Amino acid sequence: HRPKIVVIGSCNTDMVVKANRLPVPGETILGGTFYMNPGGKGANQAIAASRLGAEVTFISKIGYDLFGLQALEIYKSEKINTEFIFTDQKSPSGVALISVDSFGENSIIVAPGASRSLSLEDIDKAKGKIKEADIVLMQLEVPLETVEYAASIANEYGKKVILNPAPASTLNDSFLRNIHTILPNRIEAEMLSGIKVRDTESAHRAAEAIGEKGIENVVITLGKDGAYVKEKDEFTMIPAKEVETIDTTGAGDVFCGAFSVHLSEGHCLAEAVRFANAAAALAVTRIGAQSAIPYKKEVIV
Ligand code: RIB
Ligand code: NA
Repeated sequence: HRPKIVVIGSCNTDMVVKANRLPVPGETILGGTFYMNPGGKGANQAIAASRLGAEVTFISKIGYDLFGLQALEIYKSEKINTEFIFTDQKSPSGVALISVDSFGENSIIVAPGASRSLSLEDIDKAKGKIKEADIVLMQLEVPLETVEYAASIANEYGKKVILNPAPASTLNDSFLRNIHTILPNRIEAEMLSGIKVRDTESAHRAAEAIGEKGIENVVITLGKDGAYVKEKDEFTMIPAKEVETIDTTGAGDVFCGAFSVHLSEGHCLAEAVRFANAAAALAVTRIGAQSAIPYKKEVIV
């Protein structure tokens, strides 16, 4: 059967400019062409999970504006269940300002808008879907208390909760104990562990430290270096494929979506990471977030 995944998170519209380098404070530089693309970590991960074969329900909040309505149409065309995408009449839809440098690395400021009002009541309305799901996948562009609440409900129902702790934040241990697998990048891993991740050895220490907070499984995503995996008491470095990087925006989201789909299909953690690496490697060779998300048939491990 197709795995059932509930994604809880943000819907954004991305405003993207590519430049040779990022400006320093007080500086103005000229960049390339302006692109406006659909994005948001929640939405990107929902679309990734759907394109890669899962039946996806996306729980999110849009504003009463054109960006929100456009996004809703996109999710429908991606065969995502949009029953629990709520509308906030008073806030604009989420927007992300994204700069991409000549190496394809990005920096992002998110104006969450309506995402900020995704509430505990909204989660309550979707409880039935959480109960039916195989996996609940979340990030941190919606209020932390909403994510914590959803994690506790999912955990009560015996569901696997996957957390992509982005943007980086400190998290309390009682919340982390409800997480099956956490997927931080370097910056987020440092925020959670206090350890700067530079190489395999420091990745190991960071994974261990995060694990000590009560999470069995930790996958630190390392971009072109692959991912460092802690599965219970086993530690492994899983390298990434070598590809030509054009734009890394959303590659982490593809990783999380792909990982969740493969895990819910019954594969082990290391296999899910290999599949996620392969999917993310395709995403970095293409421009944009959602436009770069691969389909199942394209992903070759
Ligand atoms: O992870 C990439 C995403 O982060 C972008 O699409 C942007 O909207 C921000 O949420
Ligand atoms: Na991309």
